[in-house]
Amino acid sequence: MDGDQVEKMVLTKDGRKTAVDKECDGEEKKSVESKVYMDYNATTPMAPEVIQTVTEAMHEAWGNPSSSYTAEATFVPVSKITGQVEVDDIIAAIRPTTCLVSIMLANNETGVIMPISELSQQIQILNQNRMALGLPRILMHTDAAQMIGKGRVDGQDLGVDYLTIVGHKFYAPRIGALYVRGPGVTTPLHPMLFGGGQEWNFRPGTENTPMIAGLGKAAELVNKNCEDYEAHMKEVRDYLEKRLEASFGKQRLHFNSQFPGAKRLCNTCNFSVWGPGLQGRMVLSHCKTLLASVGAACHSEKGDQPSSILLSCGIPYEVAQNALRLSVGRDTTKEDVDVIVEDLKQSVAQLEQNRVT
Ligand SMILES: Cc1ncc(COP(=O)(O)O)c(C=O)c1O
Repeated sequence: MDGDQVEKMVLTKDGRKTAVDKECDGEEKKSVESKVYMDYNATTPMAPEVIQTVTEAMHEAWGNPSSSYTAEATFVPVSKITGQVEVDDIIAAIRPTTCLVSIMLANNETGVIMPISELSQQIQILNQNRMALGLPRILMHTDAAQMIGKGRVDGQDLGVDYLTIVGHKFYAPRIGALYVRGPGVTTPLHPMLFGGGQEWNFRPGTENTPMIAGLGKAAELVNKNCEDYEAHMKEVRDYLEKRLEASFGKQRLHFNSQFPGAKRLCNTCNFSVWGPGLQGRMVLSHCKTLLASVGAACHSEKGDQPSSILLSCGIPYEVAQNALRLSVGRDTTKEDVDVIVEDLKQSVAQLEQNRVT
């Protein structure tokens, strides 16, 4: 190549590498010599269809997906009075493009039970009108992780298309399942993982037989004994709330899971002992026997910040800061309650003493 020329290589779409001589005057002239690219392990050219999709996305999807104003989803707040999501609020938030409504069946911190059946009924009516207008059908999903084992859960009664099941919340192994009404037939279901054709091509990988058997057994136990489990947990939880009230006094105690007009889980007691320096974490760290949480474990990275769930339910900041979530199980006894209430009293007394001295 002459000194006054520069060479650049152009990859053509059939993978040929063509040398282009660029003369100093800027005019491009293709070299007669064509080269053959055989380095597809190093990289590949984009397929024409891919280029088209990328180009379209650059034209139409240029917003920042993480910006709050470009929300692929509409978030509907819960009511600050009832702590539950209101059916009318969901219906009002539905847009022509809405195709899925996803709501947890019972909240993991407050235990408030959401009105899923009522909402499904409304959505069913809406879907009939939408079909006539050629709009997408709205599918309903509920996360029943917290409800199973603490109250009756029936996919038919709830009227949902999808329902999430989390085994380790109801004495099963750490395995989950998704209930789908007519998977791939009446309700769309697409795999998230690809590979083997197990589970009707919905989820690849060899089935974990012992865990699946464990989940089935736990579900069978719940089916058989649900009312007994529920009655026991409710009795112990109610006793706990009475003992807390008697120990700390109505003025100092705030129950964060009792909302007028809302049903709640039988086993959950979220409360705050009012006072400076009594943040939930502090109180728990001074307890000698009680093992409990200040909120959901999956939000434990939030540190000392009060629970966003409690704040969104209208619990004042100073109260939410002191919140503790106690959840009783099938084997919790009233004697256990007596022990941990005493433990809490001593922890609070110790923290108050430390403030004075
Ligand atoms: C409502 C709800 N959904 C889902 C989960 C997730 O469970 P895991 O992290 O075990 O999958 C939890 C766990 O606390 C939960 O409370």
